[in-house]
Amino acid sequence: PLVRSFSVTSLNGLNGWEDDDVPDEDVVLFEVAWEVSNKVGGIYTVIQTKAKVTCDEWGEDYILIGPYFEHNVRTQVELIEPTKPALKRTVDSMNSRGVKVYFGRWLIEGGPCVVLFDLQSAAWSLDLWKAELWESSGVGVPWFDREANDAVLFGFLTTWFLGEFAAQCDEVSYVVAHFHEWLAGIGLIMCRMRHLPVATIFTTHATLLGRYLCAGAVDFYNGLQHFNVDKEAGDRQIYHRYCMERAASNCAHVFTTVSQITGVEAQHLLKRKPDIITPNGLNLKKFSAMHEFQNLHAQSKARIQEFIRGHFYGHIDFSLDKTLYFFIAGRYEFSNKGADIFLEALARLNYLLRLNRSDTTIVVFFIMPARTNNFNVETLKGQAVRKQLWDTANVIKEKFGKKLYESLLVGEMPDMGNMMDKEDLTLMKRAIFATQRHSLPPVCTHNMLEDATDPVLTNIRRIGLFNSRMERVKLIFHPEFLSSTSPLLPMDYEEFVRGCHLGVFPSYYEPWGYTPAECTVMGIPSVTTNLSGFGCFMAEHVADPLSYGIYIVDRRFRSADESCNQLTSFLYGFCQQTRRQRIIQRNRTERLSDLLDWRYLGKYYSQARHLALSKTYPDIFSYSLLDEMTTTGFSYPRPASVPPSPSVSRPSSPHSDTEAPAVRSLGGSSVGESSLAGSSSAPSSLAGSEDDYVG
Ligand code: UDP
Ligand code: G6P
Ligand code: GLC
Repeated sequence: PLVRSFSVTSLNGLNGWEDDDVPDEDVVLFEVAWEVSNKVGGIYTVIQTKAKVTCDEWGEDYILIGPYFEHNVRTQVELIEPTKPALKRTVDSMNSRGVKVYFGRWLIEGGPCVVLFDLQSAAWSLDLWKAELWESSGVGVPWFDREANDAVLFGFLTTWFLGEFAAQCDEVSYVVAHFHEWLAGIGLIMCRMRHLPVATIFTTHATLLGRYLCAGAVDFYNGLQHFNVDKEAGDRQIYHRYCMERAASNCAHVFTTVSQITGVEAQHLLKRKPDIITPNGLNLKKFSAMHEFQNLHAQSKARIQEFIRGHFYGHIDFSLDKTLYFFIAGRYEFSNKGADIFLEALARLNYLLRLNRSDTTIVVFFIMPARTNNFNVETLKGQAVRKQLWDTANVIKEKFGKKLYESLLVGEMPDMGNMMDKEDLTLMKRAIFATQRHSLPPVCTHNMLEDATDPVLTNIRRIGLFNSRMERVKLIFHPEFLSSTSPLLPMDYEEFVRGCHLGVFPSYYEPWGYTPAECTVMGIPSVTTNLSGFGCFMAEHVADPLSYGIYIVDRRFRSADESCNQLTSFLYGFCQQTRRQRIIQRNRTERLSDLLDWRYLGKYYSQARHLALSKTYPDIFSYSLLDEMTTTGFSYPRPASVPPSPSVSRPSSPHSDTEAPAVRSLGGSSVGESSLAGSSSAPSSLAGSEDDYVG
């Protein structure tokens, strides 16, 4: 038979891939994830942002499979007739057997088709399917784990669908199915158990055990080789979930993880080394004007400032022009996301700023969803007071303007002493009285359900940063994701990030970490770590990440206290910068965007598909890897204006000994020395030159 060859010519550089990206049209690609049109965390971002490049490559042969949730469909999916006859027959056949299968177009860039299963409509099969899972693979799922039960329903429905589709295709069709994370893993396991003609790929975005072990008091990275994984999973009552994850990774034709660091973790905890690393990209929007993103920063910052005026009403004794906005955001995993060392570093930063009598104020946002009972009264009142002041000023302005106009009409200079009457003065006094408050501006914007035990609040109480006047570091905990319809801070997440100065993500466990990557493409500097996939990726690809506004905290080779000091020195160094230096730094940060574009990183997904096809249908597809396939090979040079040695312009910093010790290789993934050795608390030189436009 005809052997189709997909050879990879070069992955070095950003141009890389040239031909044969997509096999002939008789291959259909399915991508299966719990987060298809269902926003939970970073996996949603992977699927949603990658859709455009995948649709460009595959067109209508790309179909996403996910769970059906009414509210998601109502807001994001247009239900349509299946686009291919075989798909229609498959959907009809399943529907005729009592299962509700929906077909639609996901209203995002690229507009991919989606197949969504209503899990409840198949709940009656749960026991039967669990029995089959147990008999075929030995994985038993207890009745009380709702999420695992959903994974079983989702997995069997996916397998049913793919099997039916393969049977319904008139002509020879080849199917590639790419499954993400353990929640979608049962589908993959059952495709293999039932010997379906499907080329399978499994991508894990974290390991269950890794997440659990890191959240406890365990020396995770040094103990990786030594864990008794079955016992550890059993102790944490996640044995069955871990079995699903491990079985899916080992059953897949091709196994991938999102970073080298998670690859090493998977090798030890899931007992399979990934075939390919598939780093996460973003769908970049390029502005026609090069510095448009700087204007957007200024616009969004103005909106954050409005919120601050309300939140700190009666306490605005600091200059908003000299206020910097830092933030941390993501799922609420307190220590895995590094909120613990961030809070500690903020306490130290506050001390340093006060000691040095700095006139800079730092407002720090914590955007991490927790259980709440809506906004609290004090926070809402803040915005109401601000609005009232604005309205009062406007009423008086109107009256003032009218008097002015009338006096000009009769050819007289206005009598400035009489421009305001008694009523106006009373109105203004009343408005000023309304800004008096007897409590400090609140640290938390919501009524927390677990206020007394909440880790962020408990730690804020411990470090004593309560937004009092003398503190230079002010804290705002917003325990809900941002939304443009919020009555408090009506901004979506992207707008908010643009308006801030620095994203701080000092994670301890972070397979990739989209949040700093998103900052980068918006030209906002960020702090990451050498334990995050993103941090390691940048260290590997950028000669001097620091000078590009990518601050990489060493959490691998230092004690927690040392890492915290390093973080403090990064933050303090950032606060020392002038506006001009910040603008230059943002320009540089934004320049790294191309590195994170799916147009480049999508190639690794193509690789995985080609490899899976060649393993599944060796007579039909062949695959050769001409160059060694790694994510290395491209490196951003230092910015032209940076002097060769960072020591030349080391800014004043609380700890000048921030150099990392000799950087060891982390089980195959090397953490670039360039990023750490010689890192100082602020970028080496932001003096600026021709390559640094200051708008
Ligand atoms: N995010 C969001 N709204 C917010 C805060 C965060 O949509 O208010 C998104 C953010 O854009 C990012 C995702 O949540 O894409 C978090 O992904 P990440 O990979 O950083 O962490 P994960 O939650 O997957 O561990
Ligand atoms: C952007 C705008 C400038 C503005 C600056 C503020 O660069 O184009 O007009 O002055 O942001 O920067 P800052 O770091 O002080 O928020
Ligand atoms: C997981 C990881 C996160 C990663 C995301 C997308 O949720 O925790 O680090 O960015 O998946 O791959």
